Amino acid sequence: MSVRVLGIESSCDETGVALVQTRCGQIPDLLGQALYSQIQLHQAYGGVVPELASRDHIRRVLPLTQQVLQDTQLQLQDIDVLAFTRGPGLAGALLVGAGVACGLAAALGKPVLGVHHLEGHLLSPFLSADPPEFPFVALLVSGGHTQLMRVQGVGRYELLGETVDDAAGEAFDKSAKLLGLDYPGGAALSVLAEQGDPKAFKLPRPLLHSGDLDFSFAGLKTAVLTQVQKAGNEQPMPTAAGQETFRCNLAASTQAAIVEVLVKKSLMALDQTGLKRLVVAGGVGANRVLREQLQHNCAARGIRVHYPELHLCTDNGAMIALAAAMRIEAGVESTQADYNFEVKPRWPLQTFAKDAST
Ligand code: KG4
Ligand code: ZN
Repeated sequence: MSVRVLGIESSCDETGVALVQTRCGQIPDLLGQALYSQIQLHQAYGGVVPELASRDHIRRVLPLTQQVLQDTQLQLQDIDVLAFTRGPGLAGALLVGAGVACGLAAALGKPVLGVHHLEGHLLSPFLSADPPEFPFVALLVSGGHTQLMRVQGVGRYELLGETVDDAAGEAFDKSAKLLGLDYPGGAALSVLAEQGDPKAFKLPRPLLHSGDLDFSFAGLKTAVLTQVQKAGNEQPMPTAAGQETFRCNLAASTQAAIVEVLVKKSLMALDQTGLKRLVVAGGVGANRVLREQLQHNCAARGIRVHYPELHLCTDNGAMIALAAAMRIEAGVESTQADYNFEVKPRWPLQTFAKDAST
């Protein structure tokens, strides 16, 4: 019997709503999705303002839900399960998705399911044209997380290593800010880097030779700041003409440092686990140089690399609806029919399976 799941994502600065349908024993179908990014709203402040984020989620979530239903020509009554991002993320923002999902579920008399945001990212490549098979190593690289996981199946995640300070996306964003780029600067930094020399500046590769699978990126922004100061520039750098070569070279060198560490540690994780599949998920997974270098190194070792479709790399509702549908299909979590909800702003993925059943 197939189940239609409406998923709502509201953990940070994107409101996403999507509808998926399970297909007995196969990967669920994405029926429709709608997304609203708040990036412009937060740009003036140089980062996400939690209160503004919550208020904007409130404005967007129902119109987006209506849009998905209209696009799929379905009615609210056609939804079997309401899923929402329970955490991790901004408390107020999470409460909007949780409240709406539980409110709709109560009104419709349907069950709800709280989903782990990182599980959404981790499973999102199953919606791509080249879906992975279990087991695999997952490199989760987002604005808030950098983790390597061994994934045996739905709900079976083992943490292999993670950042001890800043996330990879944070390192991209903080360096981008110093280069005068708007928040979140990861994608813009990678565009600037296209014209630069990745060897122009010698930047640190923290923990590259630590022998474990942990990361540390906090020192990188300091090294970038030092280069900006050494060259006598204002911080953040003005984007006016005259410093283009410097900015492009520093962007390329920063990207090279982050990518080298991510690639090296991913290969180590594959070696240690003996697994032959790598899944790369989260916003930084959209980075072209990271993709090229992983492809190059993994192909040489007979390892397949899987990614979400580019538009599903950053936060979206499809990955939340998908994760819920895959959990239901795998029988790892029964949905709840009471509508008391709580959100988990801090929620390690490796304890998720345990927490979810309590
Ligand atoms: O997964 P995501 O949408 O949000 C979180 O859950 O954090 O990831 C957002 C992060 C931001 O730090 C953004 O700058 C980064 O992904 N990002 C990129 C690229 N596109 C997005 N970083 C490097 N290169 C890109 N092309
Ligand atoms: Zn995310």
